[in-house]
Amino acid sequence: NAGPSVLPSLLLCDFGDLKTELARLEDAGTRVLHLDVMDGHFVPNLTYGMPIVEGIRRHSDLPMDVHLMISDPLRYAQPMVDAGADLLTFHVEAVEDAGAVAREIRSMGAAVGVALNPDTDLSALDGCLDEVDMVLVMSVDAGFGGQSFNPVALAKLAALKQSHPDLLLEIDGGINLKTIAAARAAGCDLFVVGSAIFKQDDYAAAIAGLDAEIAG
Ligand code: DX5
Ligand code: ZN
Repeated sequence: NAGPSVLPSLLLCDFGDLKTELARLEDAGTRVLHLDVMDGHFVPNLTYGMPIVEGIRRHSDLPMDVHLMISDPLRYAQPMVDAGADLLTFHVEAVEDAGAVAREIRSMGAAVGVALNPDTDLSALDGCLDEVDMVLVMSVDAGFGGQSFNPVALAKLAALKQSHPDLLLEIDGGINLKTIAAARAAGCDLFVVGSAIFKQDDYAAAIAGLDAEIAG
C-alpha cells in the first residue's frame, strides 16, 4: 500500500481490445486494477468471470482488486484466486456470516474486503471488521457504472476511519474531479473510477487530475 490511489474500474473499458486498454492504463501510472464481477442475480447486470480475470493476469502484472457483486461469493472465491485475484471483495448483503466468509477467503491466500451498498447500515459490518483487510463503501448502488455519487458514503468512511484507523478504505461509484477530494477528506485510501477515466481520451491526464485532488 503506497498511499492514496486511483483504481480504474474495468467495466466501461473496451473489452474487445483489453490488451491495449491494459497497456494504456499501465502507461497512465495505474498501480492497481479494479475488476467488477456481476452475476445478473445479486445485481441486475452481468459482466464477466474467471476467464477475463485470468486473461488480464496474463497481460498485466498489476495487482487485481476483484469486486464480487454476486450472490454466492464463496462458490467462486477459490477460482478467482486461482485466476489471479490479489484482493477479493464480497458484499455483506449477499452472505449470512460475513466474518466466516472473510476468514475462508483469507485461508485461500488472498486479501479480503467487504463491501456495503448505500442503503446498508454500517452496523451490518459488526462481527467482520476484524477479519477483513479493506472495507469498500459504495457511493452508488452496485450494478452499473455512470451513476451519480451518494454522499451517504462520506459519513460511513469517516466513522470507519475513526473506529478502525488501520483498515484500508475504498470508495466506488460516481468518483470524479468533483467528488474525490471529499472522499479523501473522509479518510478514504482507494478510489475506484470508471466513467471519469474511460470517457476521457487521455487516461493519463484523467488519472493525473484525480491524483492531484488526493495528493498531500
Ligand atoms: C458499480 C461498479 C463500479 C463502477 C464505477 O457497480 O462497482 O466500479 O464501474 O463506475 P463510475 O466511476 O462510472 O461510477
Ligand atoms: Zn466496483
